[in-house]
Amino acid sequence: MENQLLVSLSEKYGSPLYVYDAEKIISQYNRITSAFANVKSLKLNYAVKANSNISILKLFKKLNSGIDTVSIQEVKLGLEAGFAPEDIIFTPNGVSLEEIEEVAKLGVQINIDNISILEQFGYHYPNIPVCVRINPHIMAGGNHKISVGHIDSKFGISIHQLPLINRVVDNTGMTINGIHTHTGSDILDIDVFLAATEIILNTAKDFKDLEFIDLGSGFKVPYKEGDISTNIEELGERLSKRFNKFCKEYGKELTLMFEPGKFLVSEAGSFLVNVNVVKQTTSTVFASVDSGFNHLIRPMMYDSYHHIHNISNPNGRERYYSVVGYICETDTFGSNRRISEIREGDVLCFNNAGAYCFSMSSNYNSRFKPAEVLVYNGKDYLIRKEETFEDLLKNQIIIDIE
Ligand SMILES: Cc1ncc(COP(=O)(O)O)c(C=O)c1O
Repeated sequence: MENQLLVSLSEKYGSPLYVYDAEKIISQYNRITSAFANVKSLKLNYAVKANSNISILKLFKKLNSGIDTVSIQEVKLGLEAGFAPEDIIFTPNGVSLEEIEEVAKLGVQINIDNISILEQFGYHYPNIPVCVRINPHIMAGGNHKISVGHIDSKFGISIHQLPLINRVVDNTGMTINGIHTHTGSDILDIDVFLAATEIILNTAKDFKDLEFIDLGSGFKVPYKEGDISTNIEELGERLSKRFNKFCKEYGKELTLMFEPGKFLVSEAGSFLVNVNVVKQTTSTVFASVDSGFNHLIRPMMYDSYHHIHNISNPNGRERYYSVVGYICETDTFGSNRRISEIREGDVLCFNNAGAYCFSMSSNYNSRFKPAEVLVYNGKDYLIRKEETFEDLLKNQIIIDIE
C-alpha cells in the first residue's frame, strides 16, 4: 500500500493501527490455487490463528476457502463468519476430549494428533470419521520455535506408531478419512515439503477409506529486501504430479488440502505506529513508539524481522536507529536499522504485520489492543475498534477490600 494512503489512515483512525490489504490476500490465495491447478480436487483451509478477524474470515469465505482451526472459539468465529461446518477442519494440540466432542457435534472435521484421544474418540464415536496428524520426524522451519515435525516435537502421532493407529482403528471400528502433517513455518526449501509428502503418501496408502490428504503449511514469505518466498509455483508443479500419481495408485481422486496462514496474510498487513520520543544515548539512537510487544510480539518472542520504514518522512537522511516499544521491559522491534530520519510525531510502518501480529496481541501494561482496518476494493473499512477502558474492566469483579 502507498505511504500516503497509510499516513492518511493513521490520521483517520488513530495510532497504533493495523491495516490489511485485501488485494494482496486475494493475490496470494490465487497464487496457490494456480500453482496446484493440475490437482482435480484442491482445498485451501486458511489457518485462522494467523489473523482471526471475522472480516478477514469472510474474505476467505468469498474466495471459497475453508478454514483450519485450533480451538472451539476459532471454530465458532468461523461459523459466525458463515463457513459451513464441512468447510472447517479442527487441528488442535493437547486439548481435552470434551472440547473435541463439542466441535465434532457441530459437524466439523476432526483431526487428532495423539493416540490417547484417538482411542477414546473412536470408542465413543466410531461413526464419525477422523483425520490423523502424523509427525514425520522431519526438521523444518525458520527457527526451532516454529519447527514442529521433528522427533522431539509435541505435535502429531509418530510415523513409527502406525501399527498402533491401525490397532486402534480395528478395535474401535472407527474410520480414518484423512491424513495430515504440518512440519513447521517459514520453510523455504521445497525439497523439505516434497520429502514430508513422500513420507505421508507412503503412510496414506495403508488407510483404505481416505478422502483427503492435508499437507499443512509452512510456506515462507519475504521479510527483508532480497528475501524470497517458497517457490509455490515449482512446488505446485512437482507436488501435484506426485499427488496425482498417488491418487491413481490409490484408485480414488482424493482432495489435496493445505492450511496456509502466513503466506496468505503476512505481507498484506502493515502496522502503523507514532514516534513518541527520539532519544540519543551514548551507544545508539532510540525511536520510542506508541506501541510495544503487547501489540506485536514476534520480534521479542522469536526474533522475527519486520522491515520498518518512516512513511511520514520517506526521503529524509538515513540514520541508524533502534526502534523500541513503550513496555517496561526490553521491548525491541528492531536494532540498528537504517531508516529515513525519524522525528517525534512521525509515522513508522512495520511490514509483514498481517500474520501472528494482532492475533497474538495482549493487554500487557493495561494497554488497549489497537484498531484494525481492511482496505477492500479501494475503500477502507474499520474492522475492529480500538479497545476502551471499559474493555479492560469488563470481566473484572471488583470486591470490597476492607
Ligand atoms: C497445524 C498448523 N497448520 C497451519 C499452520 C499455519 O502455518 P503458516 O502460518 O506457516 O502457514 C500452523 C502454524 O502454526 C499450524 O500449526
